[in-house]
Amino acid sequence: MTDPALDAGTDSRSVPGSGAGTAVDADVLRERALASLTTARDRTTLLTTCVDGPELTAQHSPLMSPLVWDLAHIGNQEEQWLLRAVAGQEAIRPEIDSLYDAFEHPRAERPRLPLLPPDEARRYAAEVRGRALDVLEGTAFHGTRLTEAGFAFGMIAQHEQQHDETMLITHQLRRGPQALTAPDPDPVPLFTGPSEVLVPGGPFTMGTCDEPWALDNERPAHRREVPPFHIDTTPVTNGAYQAFIEDGGYDESRWWTPEGWAHIRKHSITAPLFWRRDGGQWLRRRFGVTEVVPPDEPVLHVCWYEADAYARWAGRRLPTEAEWEKAARHDPTGDRSMRYPWGDADPAPDHANLGQRHLRPAPAGSYPAGESPLGVRQLIGDVWEWTASDFLPYPGFRAFPYKEYSEVFFGSEYKVLRGGSFAVDPVACRGTFRNWDYPIRRQIFSGFRTARSAEAV
Ligand code: AVJ
Ligand code: FE
Repeated sequence: MTDPALDAGTDSRSVPGSGAGTAVDADVLRERALASLTTARDRTTLLTTCVDGPELTAQHSPLMSPLVWDLAHIGNQEEQWLLRAVAGQEAIRPEIDSLYDAFEHPRAERPRLPLLPPDEARRYAAEVRGRALDVLEGTAFHGTRLTEAGFAFGMIAQHEQQHDETMLITHQLRRGPQALTAPDPDPVPLFTGPSEVLVPGGPFTMGTCDEPWALDNERPAHRREVPPFHIDTTPVTNGAYQAFIEDGGYDESRWWTPEGWAHIRKHSITAPLFWRRDGGQWLRRRFGVTEVVPPDEPVLHVCWYEADAYARWAGRRLPTEAEWEKAARHDPTGDRSMRYPWGDADPAPDHANLGQRHLRPAPAGSYPAGESPLGVRQLIGDVWEWTASDFLPYPGFRAFPYKEYSEVFFGSEYKVLRGGSFAVDPVACRGTFRNWDYPIRRQIFSGFRTARSAEAV
C-alpha cells in the first residue's frame, strides 16, 4: 500500500488550508499568519476587557491563573519565539520572563507574584505584537525549520488561542454576573439517525507530516492497524447522562475504575461540574446564568473517570485515540487520511461549532455538513472528547521547538482529548490535533462519545 504522507519522509510543506502538496506562496502565508494572529488578539482583548481591573488580577479558582497572567504570558511567549528566536532581538524586559514561565510557578501561586498590572500587561503585549508584525513583514518562509511555511507564527497564534480557551474556562469558573454573551447555536430537529456507525478494520495513517502548522506531538504520520469498531454518531448528551445518574451511576462502584471511585467518593462528586439538582430537574450555571440543563446538548464538564464510568454502565467503552482519529480522518473510498471529517477544507461555520461563536455546545446531530463519510457527527468542535488513551509520543517523535510543549507531559498521568470544543479556534483544531489533561479535570470543556469493538469479519 502506498501512502504519500509516509513516502515524503521529512516534512513536505504546503499552504495551510490548501490540502497537502501545494506550492507555498509567501504572500498567502503572510496573510494567513497575520489573520491568525489578529483573530487571536481580538479574542484576547474581548476576554480581558469584558471585566474590570480587579477581576483581571483576582484568582477566580485555584485551578486557574489570574486573567492578567495569561495576557502577559501570551505576550512573553510571542516575544520569546517571534522576536528573540526568529528575529534575534534582545529581551524587552528580561526580568519578567520567570514570572510568566508556566513551569516555575504553579497556577495557584500566580496571584501572589509581582505581575504586571493590567494596563502594563496590555502595553507589553501590544509592543511585542507591533514588533512581531514587522518581523512577519521581513521573514522568508523557508530556510529555517522555525520559519518554514510560517510555522513559528502559526504556533504563536495557536498558543494565544489555547490561552483564550483557558481564559474562557476562568470566566466560566468566575462567580458573579454575566460578562460575556454570544448567540445560541441554531436549533435542530431531534437527531433520529443511527446511534452508532461501524468503522471498518484495517490500517490508516495517523498523525501528519504535511500539515504545516501541526505541532510536534501530531508528528510524524505513521500507519496504525485499527480493528473494526462501532462509534457513537454524536457525543453523549445531557439526557443520556442524566439516565446514568438516575440509575444510580454515581452510587455503584462497579461502573468505576478504583481510582475513579476513590476520587468521586473523596470529593462527593454526584453530577457534572456546575450542575445542581432542583426538585425534579437539573440546573446548571453557565457563564453567570443558571438554566435548565438541555437534554439534547452534548454533556460538558465531566472528568475522564465519569466518561469512563458512563461508558461501562452503557455496556460500552471510550474509543482509543487511534479509533477516534480513524473515525475523524479515514476516507473509506480511498486509502488516505483527510484533514477533517468533511475533507480537507478549512472549517467553515456550517462544519462545526468552533471559535467561541457560541458559548455552549450545539445540540447533538447539528452540522450535517461536517459529518464524516461514514456519517459520524460533531467530531470537531462542541466538546473536547475524552479518549481511552494515555498521552504518548508517536513512533519517530521529535520535540520541536521546545520540550515543554509536549514531551515533558508524555506518560500515563494524562489522558488524551480530541476534536476541540466550542471554545477552540479553527487555527488550533484539526483531525490530528491532540490535547491532554489529568483524568480528574472537569473545568475544561470536556465531554465524550462511546465505542465498542466489532466482530472481525
Ligand atoms: C495543550 C491545552 C494542555 O494549556 O497546558 C499553553 C496548551 N501549552 N501554553 C495547556 C499550552 C503552553 C496546553 N494544553
Ligand atoms: Fe502557554
